[in-house]
Amino acid sequence: MMETSKRFTFQNDNADHILEINKLEVIIPEIVDPQYGMFTWPSAPVLAQYLFHHQHVIRRKTILELGSGTSLAGVVAAKLGACVTLSDAKQYTNCLQNCRKSCEANGLNDVNIIPLTWGKVTPELIQLKNIDFIIASDCFYDKTDFEDILFTVAFILKENPHAVFLTTYQVRDCNLSIEELLYKWQLKCIEIPLAEFNADNTNSLIGGDNMSAKHLIQMFQISK
Ligand SMILES: C[S@@+](CC[C@H](N)C(=O)[O-])C[C@H]1O[C@@H](n2cnc3c(N)ncnc32)[C@H](O)[C@@H]1O
Repeated sequence: MMETSKRFTFQNDNADHILEINKLEVIIPEIVDPQYGMFTWPSAPVLAQYLFHHQHVIRRKTILELGSGTSLAGVVAAKLGACVTLSDAKQYTNCLQNCRKSCEANGLNDVNIIPLTWGKVTPELIQLKNIDFIIASDCFYDKTDFEDILFTVAFILKENPHAVFLTTYQVRDCNLSIEELLYKWQLKCIEIPLAEFNADNTNSLIGGDNMSAKHLIQMFQISK
């Protein structure tokens, strides 16, 4: 398996707040491997760009990333001053290792990395405290996982009712829907237009990379 790395650059020349970082570069180690979490998926730069454009909102907030994989969004959040926990399935030790490598490549030594398998109530899930944001990119790809993901999200939102779940999603099959599950877990969902943070298809380089623009990606905010 070939180890490589990808550089992403987030830039906002219109940043109007005096404290805003208007350019951020991160390096993401990747492994060319068929396993899903070993390289960065097109939804990840979109979520990272949202966080970059909302850096004044996430700074000093507590963020949990689900299904982090190579952790682009979580790493960007940590670089912007959020208190970040990355997670991936307990059995995918190589993905958890990748989370560590991404932190090391970006000089982050205060990011928590935990095993968190969707749909399971574990000590790691129970111990999560004071979460402001749950984030996830490209975790809704296998419909057999949808209920497990929303169970985990609903569990965290019950403990942290003010928290919101921000997720980007690559549309692969327009017949897939989470509507019934949102109803079951009493969650509300709004779509966040990508144009709001310059990540719609008028921008061919998101995070300095053209992979996101080649796919149909949507973003949702889910809350209690
Ligand atoms: C398509 S990848 C997306 C990775 C990364 N978020 C991105 O956008 O580049 C899906 C991620 O979900 C993780 N995953 C798959 N099944 C899982 C489960 N049951 N519990 C927790 N994580 C899981 C995978 O290991 C992988 O990191």
